[in-house]
Amino acid sequence: MKELNVGLIGYGFMGRAHSNAYRQAGKFFDLSYEPVLKAACARSKDKIQAFADNWGYEGVETDWRKLVERKDIDAIDICTPNNYHHDIAIAAAQAGKMVLCEKPLSMNPAEGLEMVEAVEKAGVANMVWYNYRRVPAVTLAKLLIDQGRLGRIFHYRAVFLQDWTISADLPQGGTGLWRLDAAAAGAGVTGDLLAHCIDTALWLNGPISSVTAMTEIFVKERQHNLTGKVEPVTIDDACAFLARFNNGSLATFESTRYARGHKALYTFEINGEHASIQWDLHDLHRLNYFDHRDDSIVRGWRSVHVSDSDMPYMDKWWVPGLQIGYEHSFIHGVADFIKGLETGEPAQPTFRGALETQYVCDAVLKSAKSGTWQAVGA
Ligand SMILES: NC(=O)c1ccc[n+]([C@@H]2O[C@H](COP(=O)([O-])OP(=O)(O)OC[C@H]3O[C@@H](n4cnc5c(N)ncnc54)[C@H](O)[C@@H]3O)[C@@H](O)[C@H]2O)c1
Repeated sequence: MKELNVGLIGYGFMGRAHSNAYRQAGKFFDLSYEPVLKAACARSKDKIQAFADNWGYEGVETDWRKLVERKDIDAIDICTPNNYHHDIAIAAAQAGKMVLCEKPLSMNPAEGLEMVEAVEKAGVANMVWYNYRRVPAVTLAKLLIDQGRLGRIFHYRAVFLQDWTISADLPQGGTGLWRLDAAAAGAGVTGDLLAHCIDTALWLNGPISSVTAMTEIFVKERQHNLTGKVEPVTIDDACAFLARFNNGSLATFESTRYARGHKALYTFEINGEHASIQWDLHDLHRLNYFDHRDDSIVRGWRSVHVSDSDMPYMDKWWVPGLQIGYEHSFIHGVADFIKGLETGEPAQPTFRGALETQYVCDAVLKSAKSGTWQAVGA
């Protein structure tokens, strides 16, 4: 078996999710490359050493530029805040490394385009970790839509709700709170949470042509952890937008970190001419399906427990009836990335695919500013 020597940057939430995925993928999927945890990188030597020891990395680096230059690394995995994605990805591509990058691809479309051009010019494999595509129930939704079971699509409805930034005492910036700092995150819920909803939507329902949006900043100033000063908040705390898809369907998207009681309520519903589907991250192994063509006396919403071996990815896991969880979507990401290396059919979304989400996010933020409909990509 060939080795895939991984250099991972960032030991936070995603650093852990990806490390686990590299360790598990080859145990459950038949892969011709074995991920090797070669080196982990972060600025704090002590913290990255503890992380490396826990996950079994062979070594550590404290400067991502050194990691990228190492000859014994095949793939760079970017698990840092968004403001580092661009520079690391471009340096990695120029050093001839494969690049796996966390979402959102970039702070804005201009950066994203440069990243796309860099990986394509270098001819290196690349992927963005939009992991919800690889939750089996969501992959099943894609299968049902592609089989034409829903018929013409009329409506797409997605929300992603959280409640962790309601307190005005919460600071912004720095470790753990970079998401509230526009300089590190690029955008608020639009680039963070809605990016997931948009990626799933583009995958399931095709391109979005135009949007009209509103955003709000509910807490206008917060103490900044890096400067110690009270500074204006410039990320969007909440965003709601309407969208038109190229296929003629209409959509609503909403995201906030001010929905008391919701920790990570990502749901979508799609209504077609014949059938509808619903999915809920809190119940991620189920897909709700309604088919109007059923006999009327038994017609109703079915809750499909996605655990049988003929369902996406599930032949690789336990016996029918036993479900899997959140972390498995990342294991599937590693397996699909490696399958892409084997077949030459890249795992999706590539950087180019993920750039489409950047264009939609950009149109949403522009529309929220202008108060008018905005064409995507304009
Ligand atoms: N796919 C998903 O569902 C998902 C979920 C969460 C986060 N993300 C994305 O993953 C990325 C990381 O988010 P997170 O939640 O893991 O963040 P986190 O705050 O938990 O971890 C960020 C890590 O980056 C490291 N870091 C920051 N600057 C660095 C530098 N200059 N050099 C080396 N390391 C540096 C930090 O030390 C930390 O280990 C973000 O782009 C985020 O949007 C994706």
